[in-house]
Amino acid sequence: MKSIKNITCIGAGYVGGPTMSVIAQKNPEINVTVVDLNTERIAAWNDSDLSKLPVYEPGLDEVVAEARGRNLFFSTDVEQAIDQADMIFISVNTPTKTYGKGKGQAADLKFIELCARQIAAVATSDKIVVEKSTLPVRTAEALKSILHNTGNGVNFHILSNPEFLAEGTAIQDLQNPDRVLIGGENEEAVQALVNIYAAWVPQENIITTNLWSSELSKLVANAFLAQRVSSINAISELCEATGADVNEVAFAIGKDSRIGSKFLKASVGFGGSCFQKDILNLVYIARTYNLHKVADYWEQVIIMNDHQKERFSDNIIKTLYNTVNGKNIAFLGWAFKKDTNDTRESAAIYVADHLLDEEAFITVYDPKVSAEQIYRDLDYLGTRSPEENRRLVKVVNNPYEACNKSHAIAVLTEWDEFKTYDWQRIYQNMYKPAFVFDGRNILNKKELTEKGLVVYSIGE
Ligand code: NAD
Ligand code: UDX
Repeated sequence: MKSIKNITCIGAGYVGGPTMSVIAQKNPEINVTVVDLNTERIAAWNDSDLSKLPVYEPGLDEVVAEARGRNLFFSTDVEQAIDQADMIFISVNTPTKTYGKGKGQAADLKFIELCARQIAAVATSDKIVVEKSTLPVRTAEALKSILHNTGNGVNFHILSNPEFLAEGTAIQDLQNPDRVLIGGENEEAVQALVNIYAAWVPQENIITTNLWSSELSKLVANAFLAQRVSSINAISELCEATGADVNEVAFAIGKDSRIGSKFLKASVGFGGSCFQKDILNLVYIARTYNLHKVADYWEQVIIMNDHQKERFSDNIIKTLYNTVNGKNIAFLGWAFKKDTNDTRESAAIYVADHLLDEEAFITVYDPKVSAEQIYRDLDYLGTRSPEENRRLVKVVNNPYEACNKSHAIAVLTEWDEFKTYDWQRIYQNMYKPAFVFDGRNILNKKELTEKGLVVYSIGE
């Protein structure tokens, strides 16, 4: 197999953009082109003002500044980029299906199939096609079938190389991955991809497996991680009922090296574009193999997460004397976690929807999420008209303005800056009693209580 000189990545999103930036940074002799159909997104990736990159990730601007224009390129010319590539990563979105068979559970693979068909139509030389998107186990079989029936004599090798980065720490995760996973049948093709990662990842952290193990491992990793969050969240409700403190319980159990201390933070519920989508997909796959007990087991992780979000908003309503009608609720945070501008499946969306059903007024402050995005998230639910969403929800650029004249504050994202606010000032400008619902357990409860605020945390 000839050495890889040109890489193309289809999909310039939260995975394609950062991942290819790091691959280009670490392999200056390889040209990396990231393509997308979304012209606005590509324009933002090419913007000379690095604060306008479409993805906010700490450290990403520096990596882009180093590689862009040298061996990293962003383009909308998908066909040309396919034709010139030796290796093509497919990193397009694979959302939950919203129609037809498997609606609400199965992964929608239409974007993946479109990519495969386009590669088949355009390629005039041999290619290694790499699944970077998260896919149902055995998707490579469908890709092979599309790519091997082109009749133009071009050879394709398919690899699975799922991405394990977490948003907010993407650059750190890409630069120091716990492992890189590569699944494939053709040894030379696998080795070609191993060589790319070996530019910075120690060989012992590059795992090679068969295609199906690699595809399935990604779904399983996300299911196990999400399961820990739902497990500790389930215990948070028991703590509230019994007087135990979930932070103390998490600390105590996390000291057991078999359990470990990470991913045991009780919260208003997990969000993000991956956990829910991938577990639903796992559940769907298990059901298609008639493994109903397996499906029921994993589905419970989602049921628990929905319960946790609902429990949080119910507690706000109950505490505010069983009505939030006409009351002002300040939201600190809208992103699904700190250090990202991504809001997909954020708990904030569902908590807001529930409170709006009760006719509350909401004022949102998030340091990285735009007002347009917040309204888009609410409009997408279809619960009420866009006009109604804009009448009930205000978005501001200043946290003190958000909290001013509020009956309660809800912390939905764990942004570090929330801990540093002048909580005395916030207290003075709120209606009394001044309630704070800390959905992330980040505030100093003792200090805020001394200032006069009435603080509710998760699992305490
Ligand atoms: P994203 O929506 O941010 O980006 C996907 C991009 O693909 C979009 O910009 C879209 O315009 C583009 N696209 C779709 N079809 C196309 C086509 N035919 N040609 C060109 N461009 C096309 O999605 P993402 O968050 O980057 O996720 C991509 C994949 O990676 C998903 O399968 C996801 O499950 C997986 N993943 C995501 C994360 C994460 O943290 N976001 C982590 C690991 C894995
Ligand atoms: C996740 C996986 O971690 C990553 O490996 C995979 O590639 C993509 O999906 P991501 O969704 O970006 O990454 O963020 P993650 O840090 O996993 O957090 C997901 C959600 O769980 C967030 O809403 C977060 O706030 C929540 N969470 C996480 C908790 O509530 N408690 C925890 O202890 C950890």
